[in-house]
Amino acid sequence: MRRSRGRQILALVAALTVVGTPTALVAGAADGAAASADPCAAWMDPSDSAARRADALVAAMTQDQKLHMLTFGDPPWFAYWGTAGHVDGIPELCIPDLVLSDAGSGVAGLQIATTVFPSGVAQAATWDRGLQRRIGSTIGAEAFAKGINVMLGPGMNIARTPYNGRNFEYFGEDPYLASRTAVSVIEGIQSHPVLADAKHYAFNNQETDRMTVDVRVDERTRREIYLPAFEAAVKKADVGSVMCSYNRVGGTYACENPELLTGYLRDDWGFDGFVVSDWGAVHSTAPSARAGLDLEMHAFAAGVPATPVTGSAGRYFGADQLQAAVDDGQLRQARIDGMVRNIVRPMFEHGLFDDPVSPGAEPFLSDVSTPEHLAVARRAAADATVMLKNRDRLLPLRPVEGGRTIAVIGWAANPVGAANAVSGGGSSHGSGLPPRVVSPLEGITSAALERGDRVVYVEGSNVVDARAAAAAADVVVVVATDGSSEGTDRADLGLRPAACLTVFCQAIPIEQEDMIAAATAANPDTVVVLDVGAPVRMPWLPDAGAVLVPWYGGLQHGNALADVLYGVREPGGRLPQTFPVDEAQHPFKPEEYPGVGGKESYDEGLLVGYRWYDATGTRPLFPFGYGLGYTTFGFRDLAVRPTAGGARVSFVVRNTGRRTGAVVPQLYLSAPKRAGEPPRQLKGFTKLTLKPGESRRVSLALDRRAFSVWSTRRDRWVVVPGTYGVAVGTSSRDLVLRGRLAR
Ligand code: BGC
Repeated sequence: MRRSRGRQILALVAALTVVGTPTALVAGAADGAAASADPCAAWMDPSDSAARRADALVAAMTQDQKLHMLTFGDPPWFAYWGTAGHVDGIPELCIPDLVLSDAGSGVAGLQIATTVFPSGVAQAATWDRGLQRRIGSTIGAEAFAKGINVMLGPGMNIARTPYNGRNFEYFGEDPYLASRTAVSVIEGIQSHPVLADAKHYAFNNQETDRMTVDVRVDERTRREIYLPAFEAAVKKADVGSVMCSYNRVGGTYACENPELLTGYLRDDWGFDGFVVSDWGAVHSTAPSARAGLDLEMHAFAAGVPATPVTGSAGRYFGADQLQAAVDDGQLRQARIDGMVRNIVRPMFEHGLFDDPVSPGAEPFLSDVSTPEHLAVARRAAADATVMLKNRDRLLPLRPVEGGRTIAVIGWAANPVGAANAVSGGGSSHGSGLPPRVVSPLEGITSAALERGDRVVYVEGSNVVDARAAAAAADVVVVVATDGSSEGTDRADLGLRPAACLTVFCQAIPIEQEDMIAAATAANPDTVVVLDVGAPVRMPWLPDAGAVLVPWYGGLQHGNALADVLYGVREPGGRLPQTFPVDEAQHPFKPEEYPGVGGKESYDEGLLVGYRWYDATGTRPLFPFGYGLGYTTFGFRDLAVRPTAGGARVSFVVRNTGRRTGAVVPQLYLSAPKRAGEPPRQLKGFTKLTLKPGESRRVSLALDRRAFSVWSTRRDRWVVVPGTYGVAVGTSSRDLVLRGRLAR
């Protein structure tokens, strides 16, 4: 039972407010003697269902109170305790404040003293649902402690191109991996009285012209590639809110698009939470409300003109505007009631009424980043790190008598550079205050000291220095970064560092490809560390001894990197995104990306990411799903058995190496030719840790959906009969077991 202290305080505040404050919102709330005894009694019994409580509350609200719930309170954006926005509660009705904050790598925006976790792409790269849930639940705990009850994440747009400036916030290029990751993270966040928010819905797969671009995507591609993560968030994780995006879809803004906001979301998937707009993504009153938008948000006060930065001029869901739409007959009163209900129902369900937050100076200033939370961040950073190369087992570094000299090279390795390289730019960027990022230089230095190794550091933008330091060292760790950010796409696959304060990023003019080339040429035992949000080109790859991709690793990046280098933990990550050889390998026509004349067409259809590489027989630099650990594995004994709805695939995995290690067996299905699907698609995976010599039989279930394609003609999922190829391996290209299955 959750009849909390907060509930009692609210009841007290409610009683006092009803007695002492004759505001417009109060008028009509106190209805007779019963109401003044406990005005909220009808909806504050936690043992009642959320639906009943929501109905009772909406029935008791005045029109003013209802309209108040549908738009942002002032001051908007960061001016309200560093949050992204809020809706003031209505104490006389026991409605708590709704306090919304970014985002996916921790409690961000202008919040201070929170933990910055590895970014979304890194979370996906762990392929570890338990760990993802733990990251989510730690973020949820910090949000609640900060007086926040809506976390504006996770972001789950698909990495359609490597250039999207926000890929680092998302879960990669595959809908199955993205769905699984999204569900785990949401479950974690919502294990606290905090709602998660599935964003950016939908087809918001680039930052170029993000406020206006009109995206054309065929129905089958929508259903099979871009919508599944949102669908899973609704159906499997019961996400409390969904954020409609800035862009247009098929000519209509996402936040006034009935097909998106009502068709898929509510009619098809049964969503019963609320749709909140992205900040400044609303362009109308009645059409947006009719389409399915419930809550308008904006970064700026009403009246700020529409620009490529602000989006719309806002505000459109003001009380007068909505009331006028009702009075004119453009909007039914029942829809207003439904909007309010959509907001309060998940608030009841997830405990926001029973454990209300109290935003203010105290939670704003409090340090919520505990040692346990930092330990989660450290483990996550190591488990997300993808090792792409490890020549002659250069890693892990083993003890050497007399110690070794390690040259650490790169701006991104020092405390100033690392403060910028552990997180991408934009609304998800954690303030990093107080400054407690553990840089690679600090992490490596303290680990080296414990082991009798010596560390020398050069900043490295002068290649002569980089070369000399590398040549004189036993082992080199060269750290480089690329500063991707919300608001702009990446120009190419190069390494372009930046310093960001939220969306405002300043390029740092440091040449890093030459630095890496100088180091790798001078010393074959060079480990290249790439603090990036998305794929980068690697012209120096043949000379590198080892390559690690920790993505944006969060506050504990340096410690986690040292853990990986010295083998305290393995590099546990596998690629959630294909790494192309270079920009020319997978070109887009301008009308496909970034669009021409404000329109963009997803002509590649289902051939996104590895699906395109497989269909065209193109060999990428590193394939989807790839990543090395510190041991080796063997696979055998594939068994494929049909079940009632789908199939069960099992096989034996054995650790054939000399140390304990994790493996991520991946299951890909190939549909019969006439299904018209890409050559193979991820439909199952797990992550398990085995001791040297240990074997385990792994069993993965395939449901009906795994064998289904979206039939546009029949407007539903249909199973395509025929023979399916089953392949199991350690990446989309390293498939060691193959079988067949008739459906
Ligand atoms: C971003 C959202 C974010 C919102 C609030 C927008 O610009 O697109 O992802 O949640 O701002 O900060």
